[in-house]
Amino acid sequence: MRITVLGTGYLGATHAAAMAEMGFEVMGVDVDEAKLEALAAGVLPFHEPGLGELVRKHVESGRLRFTSDYALAGEFGDVHFVGVGTPQRAGSYAADMTFVDSAVTSIAQHATHDAVIVGKSTVPVGSARRLRALAKDNAPEGVDVDLVWNPEFLREGHGVEDTLRPDRMVLGLPGHGSTGDGDRANDSRLEAILREVYAPQLEAQTPLIVTDYETAELVKVAANSFLATKISFINSLSELTEAVGGDIRTLADAIGMDERIGRKFLNAGVGFGGGCLPKDIRALRARASELGLDQSVRFLVEIDDINVRRRDHTVGVVTDMLGGSIMGRQVAVLGAAFKPESDDVRDSPALDIAARLHSIGADVHVYDPKANANAAKRYPRVDYVDSLPQAVARAEVVVLLTEWDEFRSMTPEQLAPLVKTRQILDGRNVLDPVQWEQAGWTYRALGRKG
Ligand code: UDX
Repeated sequence: MRITVLGTGYLGATHAAAMAEMGFEVMGVDVDEAKLEALAAGVLPFHEPGLGELVRKHVESGRLRFTSDYALAGEFGDVHFVGVGTPQRAGSYAADMTFVDSAVTSIAQHATHDAVIVGKSTVPVGSARRLRALAKDNAPEGVDVDLVWNPEFLREGHGVEDTLRPDRMVLGLPGHGSTGDGDRANDSRLEAILREVYAPQLEAQTPLIVTDYETAELVKVAANSFLATKISFINSLSELTEAVGGDIRTLADAIGMDERIGRKFLNAGVGFGGGCLPKDIRALRARASELGLDQSVRFLVEIDDINVRRRDHTVGVVTDMLGGSIMGRQVAVLGAAFKPESDDVRDSPALDIAARLHSIGADVHVYDPKANANAAKRYPRVDYVDSLPQAVARAEVVVLLTEWDEFRSMTPEQLAPLVKTRQILDGRNVLDPVQWEQAGWTYRALGRKG
C-alpha cells in the first residue's frame, strides 16, 4: 500500500514523516514549490521538535518524497490523506474549504486506480458527505474513489509523538448513520484498509472509534471547543481571584484533583491562541448558525469573549504597573509564539499584547527563542532582539507571555543588574512569587492580587 499526504504544513508534513517511519512509501504533495524544495532537502519551514530529523531520515531512506504534481500522486497512491488548511474565511467566522475542495477534486481526477481518500483537515460538519460526492463525480470512469473521515488531534510541538502514539483514533464511514448509504460491506472494506494503515497504533491498543461521517467531523471541533472552554473557565475565575486576593493556581490544583475535572488545561494566563482553538470555535459557531442552531453553541461566544478580554486585561495590568502612563516606557516582552516549543504566531496572545502595548506608546522589546522571525513578518513595528538579556536591558517592566523553559528558569538575580525597575508580570503563572518578591521585585500575575 502506498500513501500520499496532500498538504505539507504542520499536519501534513508530520503525518507524511510519521507514515514513512511506520514503513510506508509516502509522497507529500503541495502546491507550494518552495516548501517542497525545502522539505526534500530536509529543511522544515517551521519549528517542530523531532520532525526535521524524521523528514531527513526518510528522504535519505527513499521512503519519503515530495511533489507538486497531482498526476504523479494519483498514479502513486492507494490511500490519500488530506491535510491541507481550512483557515478562517475573510470577513466571516466560517472555515474556508477552498484548499480541501481543490485537493479532493484534483486527486480524484488523477486517480489511475481504486483509492481511498482519508480526510484529516478540520472541516465544518457535513463536509465529508459533500466531499465524497465531489470525489466520485471527479474520478475517471471505472475507477472507484471512496472517502473516510479520520480527524487529527495532534498538538503543535508534540506532532510526531501525537501521530505515532495518539490517544484515540476516529473513523467516519459513508455507510454509517442515518444519512449514510447503509452499505456495510463497503464500510467494512474501508475500515480494513485503515486498520492496515494504522496497524502499529492498533497493536499498541489505541482505542478505535468507528462511526458516521458527521460524528467523526464533530469529534474534532467538540474536543477543541471543550479545551477552549476549560481555559476560558479558569481564566474567568482568575478575574475573581485577582479581584478578591485569591490564588488561581491553588484553585486550579484543588479542583483539578477531582478526577472528573482533571488538572490539564486549567492553566490561567493570557489565554489561548494558535491556528486551531480560536478558529475552530468560531467555525463551529458559524456552522451551527447555518444550521439554525445558534442557541446550541451560544456559550462559545462567551468562551471567545473571555479569551479576548485576557489581552485587554494584560495591557491594563502593565499600564497599572507603570503608574498609569505608558508613553515611551521600556517594556520587555518575553515570548511571541502562541505557546512554547512552537514558532507559530497565528492568533498569538503574546504577539497581540506586544502589538497593543506598542500601539499605545510603549517602547517594546520582544524576545522569543524561535518565533521572532514569524512575529516580525506579522507585526514588524516592535523591536525584536536575539536574547533574554537584550530584551530586559533597561526595562521598567518585564512581561512574560509565552512559557518557554528559558523564561521559567530565569532568576531575579540574573535579571536584576539589567533592568531599570524590578517589576515583572507573570502572564502564564509559571514563576515562583516568593522567590521574586524576596529578591525585591514587584511581582504580579494574572489571577493573583498584585
Ligand atoms: C490544539 C489541540 O490541543 C489539538 O488537539 C488540536 O489537534 C489542535 O489544537 P495546539 O493548537 O497545538 O493544539 O495547542 P494547545 O497545546 O492545545 O494550546 C492551545 C492554546 O491554549 C495555547 O495558546 C496555550 O498557551 C493555551 N493554553 C493551553 C492555556 O492558556 N492554558 C492551558 O491550560 C492550556
